[in-house]
Amino acid sequence: MKPVVFFNSLAEKSGAVMPRGDYSTASDDYVVAQQWDVYTAEQHALWRRLYQRQAKLLPGRACDSYVEHLAHIDAAEGIPNLAAVSEALFRATGWRLVAVPGLVPDKVFFAHLAARRFPVTVWLRTPEEFDYIVEPDIFHDFFGHVPLLFDPVFAAHLQEYGKGGLKALTLGGLDFLARLYWYTMEFGLVKSSKGLRAYGAGILSSVGELDYCLNDQAPHRIRFELERVMRTRYKIDAYQKTYFVIDDFQQLFDDTTPDFTLLYQRLKTLSALSADSLLPGETNLSLANASLDDDG
Ligand code: PHE
Ligand code: FE
Repeated sequence: MKPVVFFNSLAEKSGAVMPRGDYSTASDDYVVAQQWDVYTAEQHALWRRLYQRQAKLLPGRACDSYVEHLAHIDAAEGIPNLAAVSEALFRATGWRLVAVPGLVPDKVFFAHLAARRFPVTVWLRTPEEFDYIVEPDIFHDFFGHVPLLFDPVFAAHLQEYGKGGLKALTLGGLDFLARLYWYTMEFGLVKSSKGLRAYGAGILSSVGELDYCLNDQAPHRIRFELERVMRTRYKIDAYQKTYFVIDDFQQLFDDTTPDFTLLYQRLKTLSALSADSLLPGETNLSLANASLDDDG
């Protein structure tokens, strides 16, 4: 029986009353068997529809590395067999995929990442949730997160994030680190020579936000700055008010390498910023000059 405390924080995180996955067979690290044979033909067909709709939106919106690695993963025809992809991933970057029933406690999540294991939820949304789902399912976890695990710099960063998470638990830094994850791994934008591109999984797996984050006039797009990101609140149930833009994954890796101990101390003395704040001196990167800027 998994702890009730976990389900409370999970409910806050996902908006769900109880997570829908079956946690009864999970081991201490929350790993389960995927049971790939149990998916129905209807579920594979639903996956194909999700995949095809999203794949059409990727050109000109997803970052090059994502598009390149997704193309090498055999996942277009149905729900992927995690063990098979895990083997290919291990050969590429030393990461493995592990199957989980759904969201897992923070400490378990961080420990997996620190050991180069990425947890992927086993269940797929229902047809009624084709457009939107509250809890992450296998489509979000796999389509959104897995392709970039084949990118060596991205993969190295995510392992460091996992180690940093375990450390943050002892330093009271969890809320700050969660904001970093949200605005990078889930909703991050990156520059390219052709303009801004998405690399965050929450965007890449969303039918509406993938275009919105790049082409709508409403949200702010601000150059990534570590402390700024870690002060900024976020909404989990609406399109983002602000996207933070990195130059490349090397910048993300380098900027997050320093010891966060003193940074957490300072952050605790600063007030949080609302999701839509724009501070004096901050530039809201316009769509046009974002690409000019990059070439210059
Ligand atoms: N450098 C961070 C620390 O000292 C760890 C970390 C690395 C956090 C990468 C996030 C991403 O705590
Ligand atoms: Fe995610």
